[in-house]
Amino acid sequence: MTTQAKQDYQQLYQQAANAPETFWQQQAAKLNWYKAPQQILQQQDAAHYQWFSDGVLNTAYLALDSQVEQGRAEQTALIYDSPVTNSQQRFSYRELRDEVARFAGVLKALGVQKGDRVVIYMPMIPQAAIAMLAVARLGAVHSVVFGGFSAHELALRIDDAKPKVVLSASCGIEISKVIAYKPLLDDAINKAAHKPAHCVIYQRPQLKAELQAGRDLDWQQALLKAEPAACVPVKATDPLYVLYTSGTTGKPKGVVRDNGGHAVALHYSMQAVYNTKPGDVFWAASDVGWVVGHSYIVYAPLIAGCTTVLYEGKPVFTPDASAFWRVCAEHKVNILFAAPTAFRAIRKEDPEAALQQYDLSALRTIFMAGERLDPATYQWVVDKLQKPVIDHWWQTETGWPIAANPAGIALLPAKPGSSTVPVPGFNVQILDEAGQQVKANEQGYIALKLPLPPGCLTTIWGNDARFVDGYLATFPGYYASGDGGYIDDDGYLFVMGRTDDVINVAGHRLSTGEMEQIVASHPAIAECCVIGIPEPIKGQQPMALVLIKNGVEVDETILEAELVAMVREEIGALACFKKALIVKRLPKTRSGKILRKLLRQIADGSQYSVPSTIDDPASLPEIAQLMQARGLLSGS
Ligand code: COA
Ligand code: AMP
Repeated sequence: MTTQAKQDYQQLYQQAANAPETFWQQQAAKLNWYKAPQQILQQQDAAHYQWFSDGVLNTAYLALDSQVEQGRAEQTALIYDSPVTNSQQRFSYRELRDEVARFAGVLKALGVQKGDRVVIYMPMIPQAAIAMLAVARLGAVHSVVFGGFSAHELALRIDDAKPKVVLSASCGIEISKVIAYKPLLDDAINKAAHKPAHCVIYQRPQLKAELQAGRDLDWQQALLKAEPAACVPVKATDPLYVLYTSGTTGKPKGVVRDNGGHAVALHYSMQAVYNTKPGDVFWAASDVGWVVGHSYIVYAPLIAGCTTVLYEGKPVFTPDASAFWRVCAEHKVNILFAAPTAFRAIRKEDPEAALQQYDLSALRTIFMAGERLDPATYQWVVDKLQKPVIDHWWQTETGWPIAANPAGIALLPAKPGSSTVPVPGFNVQILDEAGQQVKANEQGYIALKLPLPPGCLTTIWGNDARFVDGYLATFPGYYASGDGGYIDDDGYLFVMGRTDDVINVAGHRLSTGEMEQIVASHPAIAECCVIGIPEPIKGQQPMALVLIKNGVEVDETILEAELVAMVREEIGALACFKKALIVKRLPKTRSGKILRKLLRQIADGSQYSVPSTIDDPASLPEIAQLMQARGLLSGS
């Protein structure tokens, strides 16, 4: 690090670490509260903390009305860019505020009140963001479900969140195909035990949905009769949203985000991490179904007075690999945030990056997250764009970056493979199995010392025990991130991958445990194990190793096709589950635990040592051979 940059960063880092209440009170003071908080941090018990507990605010007010009041009425708040429908639309802050207030009126007329849940299952159209903000305006709680999830996954979330209303659209548009959402929604409601009172459906011209009389409303029709609804003040500790994410079991976890901590943390991150100022154009090329979409498509850019880009398309094939450069040039994007997968896909289609016709002079910095940024992809983007590329690490649970090169504080020298340094407010430690801190450069479990800064999850919806057991019990006094890695002599963090059964496919977080449950339910299968194996574009892909029941005859190709169909039906196409291998035995410890880590190491070609507790060492070369024969070993 240069001495000055290092000093600037360390000074702020120490301030946040030594006097967190003063530090965060100063950040909170930058927002327009109805009642500014005096109680900054309160510890309730060993596991639970509250930020800003006596503060009163409304997040949608901060994102829209307050911006209008500060003179941004005519500034563009949101740019919708949709190559898949060949259309674009711009909303000024005034227009977006008015649209949101009217849609909040639709929800209010349906009885949605403070604290009620509203599930949002929508493609990347402006109405998705409008829906989220309208729910927030009423002090209600949204739960957005990514459009690529199946009816079964949607049903699980409906049953857990118990929404009064579900918001959806007639269809989504993927690369050259229209996906009907409404039949999936109907199927999900049939499967769910909880029945929402109403569904509001946005009819897209590409496909009209059939509406169920009494339950379903036509979005556009409902708006015609709606009265704008006012912002409802909520406590800082009231929930803003529940976002489900994959854990190690089949049941997704509903991460709960509060209003106050979230707004303060996101506002801070826009300055400290992303180095934005009001009026900047911020493009997070993600989906509102993921945390990146919640934080950096919808809330943070608006709370910071920026212009956000909502992109309905892919990095490639909509129509080609120059889509990112086209959007950046056309909308004068200042900050681009995307997953490494997107750049790997662009690089594959257009290794030279045909940038000549695009004016990227407005683009200042490229941020990447969602999965490990491999040094080759990092170098390619740096070479082609000649701009700072920042790898930053975060999770659905934290809602904003834990480690980053804090561009708004000081741009530190980058080290490929590292997400740089902890962001002020986060105390990152590397622990061994026993919870002891390890030395610099030694790998271990990445843990965050409590209390977590504002904006991080406060609990798991309806299951606080899962919050405590899943995150806080492993290392008392710490939040266990589920990631492994190390900190080097310069204090740089290297996140190497998950230490649990979560995998990352094209920047999408998936549970191998959930896939195992589905695969194991096939009548021919006695036992199975699903692991993530390397995939050149998507980073990882799932693969099942299956043991067939004694006496059952199956054809591997037919079985694989059946399992692929089952996972697609139960989880959705986004699981990218395409590989199943029949094996004679699975490597286990003598106590019967499948050695998944060993299998992952075999698949990715890394060095491994055979543990003395292994029951059947001969299973290892056997599996390696089978994988080799199918071309599934890294480098094979
Ligand atoms: N609605 C419905 N279906 C969806 C969907 C959505 N919102 N998103 C993905 N799917 C489907 C796709 O159509 C595809 O179906 P198929 O198997 O029938 O072809 C499947 O899910 C897998 O999709 P995806 O992983 O997106 O693969 P792809 O081959 O269509 O595209 C990439 C590959 C790399 C271009 C794409 O994965 C990508 O853009 N990745 C970046 C991801 C990202 O931004 N993550 C955000 C985290 S920060
Ligand atoms: P999600 O909750 O979907 O955002 O996924 C979070 C997980 O993605 C983390 O626990 C990491 O495993 C992985 N991840 C996100 N960002 C990075 C990064 N910059 N480097 C390495 N892994 C990352």
